[in-house]
Amino acid sequence: MSKAHSGWDWRKNRVNNPQLNSAGELIHLLTIEGLPKAMIHRILDTAESFMSLNEREVKSVPLLRGKSVFNVFFENSTRTRTTFEIAAKRLSADVVNLSVDSSSTKKGESLIDTVDNLAAMAADMFVIRHSESGAPTFIAQHLNKMFGGKINVINAGDGRHAHPTQGLLDMYTIRHYKKDFTKLRVAIVGDILHSRVARSDIHALTTLGCPEVRAVGPRTLLPSHLEGMGVKVFHDLKEGIRDADVIIMLRLQNERMKGALIPSSQEYYKHFGLTEEKLKYAAPDAIVMHPGPMNRGVEIDSAVADGPQSVILSQVTFGIAIRMAVMSILASSRAGAA
Ligand code: CP
Repeated sequence: MSKAHSGWDWRKNRVNNPQLNSAGELIHLLTIEGLPKAMIHRILDTAESFMSLNEREVKSVPLLRGKSVFNVFFENSTRTRTTFEIAAKRLSADVVNLSVDSSSTKKGESLIDTVDNLAAMAADMFVIRHSESGAPTFIAQHLNKMFGGKINVINAGDGRHAHPTQGLLDMYTIRHYKKDFTKLRVAIVGDILHSRVARSDIHALTTLGCPEVRAVGPRTLLPSHLEGMGVKVFHDLKEGIRDADVIIMLRLQNERMKGALIPSSQEYYKHFGLTEEKLKYAAPDAIVMHPGPMNRGVEIDSAVADGPQSVILSQVTFGIAIRMAVMSILASSRAGAA
């Protein structure tokens, strides 16, 4: 990877960017922030090569034969954990799912001791979800020191910080349906304050040249720094989605909220719930996305979630190909941490 990619100089960033090795290759995927545009396109193109011609099934490609992938989820997950497992199996890797609820972390074992013990079982790749922002980066830095970048870490969602594979599968979905990022209006609606998905999507969309990224939600659920990220802010749903080509709905992340930030879920639905009537304000061919899990009747009406403009289940299928792409690119990088 060179300075030529998007004018981004990895040499300046690599000290604080354990994602890259000394040659600028991706050895971990921790965040989309600072990821070169060329690398995002490489991941999307690789994922596309794993999709069957009808774009509804994902191929089996034995690129990780003999490798061990450890799924370590310290937070609940349906889509991410399962699609990582399917992706690793489609690549012919051996997959180990650590059930954190019945692991020795419950007896007080530290995060690093847990990781060291799994590394001693010949792990080649860790997929980590954690409620603390920065936990996967901390693990990657530790493994770089111990193993010189030979063991890869993928962030499967950390606190409010980042969910890079969700961001990438969202970009795959948008590219699949809309082709060209440089002509799109994308509205991200809901609890952006607590959303790692929103952060990853905003970084990906701006890197890919999307000219208009909008954040739509009540003042209490939008962070203050959005304009600085090149995002237009709206507090009215109809105005926020007017003429939008893509609408990404987010759930209220009650588990990360401190105190009551909205009067009630009924009140929230009345103002920010996406219904068929409100969807008419968007472009007629707008697509509706949601990372899941959905709360029907809170941020989205069932008629929209299951309607003709919804691509929510396609996102899940594309997630398998994206996770295969990320794992195969990491496995092809040479070891050698920055
Ligand atoms: N989108 C997402 O991260 O879903 P899960 O929490 O089910 O993995």
